[in-house]
Amino acid sequence: MTVLVTGGAGFIGSNFVFHMLRKYPNYRVICVDSLTYAGNLSTLKSIMDHPNFVFYRTNICDRAGIYQIFEAEKPDIVVNFAAESHVDRSIENPEIFLQTNILGTQVMMDACRKYGITRYHQVSTDEVYGDLPLDRPDLFFTEETPIHTSSPYSASKAAADLLVLSYYRTFGLPVTVSRCSNNYGPYHFPEKLIPLMIANALNDKPLPVYGEGLNVRDWLYVEDHCKAIDLIIHSGKVGEVYNIGGHNEMKNIDIVKLICKALGKPETLITYVADRKGHDMRYAIDPTKIHNELGWLPETKFVDGIQKTIQWYLENREWWETIISGEYQNYYERMYGEKRESI
Ligand code: NAD
Ligand code: DAU
Repeated sequence: MTVLVTGGAGFIGSNFVFHMLRKYPNYRVICVDSLTYAGNLSTLKSIMDHPNFVFYRTNICDRAGIYQIFEAEKPDIVVNFAAESHVDRSIENPEIFLQTNILGTQVMMDACRKYGITRYHQVSTDEVYGDLPLDRPDLFFTEETPIHTSSPYSASKAAADLLVLSYYRTFGLPVTVSRCSNNYGPYHFPEKLIPLMIANALNDKPLPVYGEGLNVRDWLYVEDHCKAIDLIIHSGKVGEVYNIGGHNEMKNIDIVKLICKALGKPETLITYVADRKGHDMRYAIDPTKIHNELGWLPETKFVDGIQKTIQWYLENREWWETIISGEYQNYYERMYGEKRESI
């Protein structure tokens, strides 16, 4: 079995690549990533020489490049993680979000149609459902909740979801879609809430909380997301959408305070800053369908997952410090510039 993973040098994609190589010693894993600012090849350095792993630095919008990879590698399963993923950046500059998240998805599915695959899986997000009010804790996103997006990021992901489902209905492409809540864990890029707060706290820098910090997110340990996708690509029903989430809702401010406490840093570092435009109030996933149909349940409790995550950032300071300094962007040229033909 050959699994092609796009966006495998990013946060969730890299965790998924590690998971697949660990769990399926007979699978080949092909990683396609253009190494945007969010992709970090040093994340994958421990597996670059793995006999079942191949890395291509290719943009998913590059049709000719993607077709060449399909011809050479003949993937059975494609899992599309590659995306512009940061809401704040989409508010600054929406265009690249539309290109990668929508048109890139189209290129990947066209390649799947042309060369044939057994499954195309689209990694989507709970943000396509918009948000829920804080005073209705009884409400959750189900797969039937209408699409109702807030940011250019979520609108681009929703457009991609609709396109994916249209390729199923119109062309019979064997697709699945998953919509997951907020992930946290190792290799999370330090511009997102949890790693940013850990890095800033460790450097005694201000901790910028948007608005009053009352917005609620539903946090899931990244390994649990990877396991859910693994189940969906092997046993999920073609044409279906699966919500993924662990019923772990937390206010932003409580997460930041918890990080301060765990690191022995004063809450006086917390600085309330201007709110995000169009800021979604609350996300909350109902994961009943994936539980009932595929037996998935999250395994890592937040109290344990956040401790593991903080420990990982303490032990892997070099990984995030080179990101903050910008040095990681030279890593590719330094390590692989003249070395490898396949890259
Ligand atoms: P990330 O930003 O950490 O990683 C994205 C990766 O995609 C990077 O390695 C980047 O280089 C690569 N990439 C971007 N544009 C590309 C292009 N045009 N061609 C090839 N590669 C490209 O993102 P993440 O947090 O790991 O999210 C991965 C996927 O999961 C995204 O589709 C996102 O929408 C979805 N998702 C994320 C979360 C979350 O909490 N982070 C939750 C639910 C869903
Ligand atoms: O819900 C899934 C989504 O989760 C994914 O689709 C996105 O790709 C992923 O980035 C994440 O989106 P969020 O916008 O929820 O994540 P972020 O870490 O950017 O912000 C989490 C919350 O913290 C949000 O309410 C904004 C707030 N925040 C964020 C940052 C970076 C702050 O208060 N201060 C900050 O500095």
